[in-house]
Amino acid sequence: MKTLFTITFNILYGLAAAAPANFEGTAKQLADPNFGPVPGQDPLWSSYSGVDPTFPGNIKDPILPTEHGEPAVDDVVWQNLLAAEWVIFELYQYGVETFTSEQFVEAGYPNTTYDRIVEIRNNEAGHLRIFQNKISPNSIKPGACRYQIPVYEPFTFLAIATLFEISSMAFLTGLVQQAQLPESHAAMVAIAEVETRHETWALIDLWKENPFGGPSDTIFPYANEILEGTNPYVIPGSCPKENPEYPYPRQDLPPFSPAKTTKSLMPGDTFAVNFTDPTNLPSFEEGTQYYMTFFHGPANISIPIDVHGFPDVPIEVQIPAQLEVKGIYLTVITDTMGAPSVDTVKAGPNIILQQPASLGLAVVQYE
Ligand SMILES: *[C@@H]1O[C@H](CO)[C@@H](O)[C@H](O)[C@H]1NC(C)=O
Ligand SMILES: *[C@@H]1O[C@H](CO)[C@@H](O)[C@H](O)[C@H]1NC(C)=O
Ligand SMILES: *[C@@H]1O[C@H](CO)[C@@H](O)[C@H](O)[C@H]1NC(C)=O
Repeated sequence: MKTLFTITFNILYGLAAAAPANFEGTAKQLADPNFGPVPGQDPLWSSYSGVDPTFPGNIKDPILPTEHGEPAVDDVVWQNLLAAEWVIFELYQYGVETFTSEQFVEAGYPNTTYDRIVEIRNNEAGHLRIFQNKISPNSIKPGACRYQIPVYEPFTFLAIATLFEISSMAFLTGLVQQAQLPESHAAMVAIAEVETRHETWALIDLWKENPFGGPSDTIFPYANEILEGTNPYVIPGSCPKENPEYPYPRQDLPPFSPAKTTKSLMPGDTFAVNFTDPTNLPSFEEGTQYYMTFFHGPANISIPIDVHGFPDVPIEVQIPAQLEVKGIYLTVITDTMGAPSVDTVKAGPNIILQQPASLGLAVVQYE
């Protein structure tokens, strides 16, 4: 009875409590991990309901090192993650500032959609703080750039957000392999779990789909290659000059996606490859066999591709028929079956969204 009473009391108390106020400060103050609300001990990152960016998303300057020693072993990994988190946080912040609750309802989404977007935005702000605190005082903690998010109506916003969530789940399976400390591994798994909750909500409530994604989400080891896909959202030259190169290291691989004429991206379908940056095309060597490698769940499948006549003749590839229609397929062009090392990847990655499948094509059209 005592336990029941305590729970009931907490529920009543929770309902009565006012939404927490945001918190102000400077980048210099943020260097102290104990400054301001502390993740895990503050309701801000669940229940703040303001439109203004949630702390520390309201403090956009980089945090300069306060000590002069050697960087900690995982600093670079966390710097990459913090810079990526700024993109994701600002995407949700854009959604919170751009749309109203009524617009989501008019577009056919549940009346809780706006509140959930606010809450996800808060979670992402909490990630900013967690990642800042993971970087040692010997290394800079990257600040925000300015971002271009050319999304003007609820559907495209929710589609892009869904793509970001599910790619961040795959991305973390790679990033965790770069980190050395067990506590870094644990923190990254905990963050991936939160992204999974966001994605699960979207699948059930927004897209009315079965949320399950098969026994394993997609494992992809080359995390920085996924991060490069966020760079088109950054306004060139807008990053703080103190920020480290992002991502680091970066391969600057040619990006591609299925051509806009693609009608379906189901297993067994064929699509033409469109290299989406005309200034960054692959250079294929005569006599080398190239492959499109599809990563899905814990496995990968490589399909030989014909690059003769490229770029005049488009490359076409058939999606392996045996792939399960769940989650995402992550695809790269490689010169070695299975893309066994990072330097064997020659273009990509591209993400083919299978769940919800209808959004997969929508995202291609949008790109
Ligand atoms: C929100 O939608 C639910 C279910 O469709 C409905 O029961 C509820 O009354 C709605 N709430 C508001 C405030 O419109
Ligand atoms: C290829 O990508 C570019 C850049 O996104 C786009 O403008 C063009 O329409 C695309 N072409 C096809 C055939 O998909
Ligand atoms: C792809 O699968 C092959 C065969 O199972 C494996 O050897 C290879 O390491 C995998 N590639 C990656 C990048 O995990």
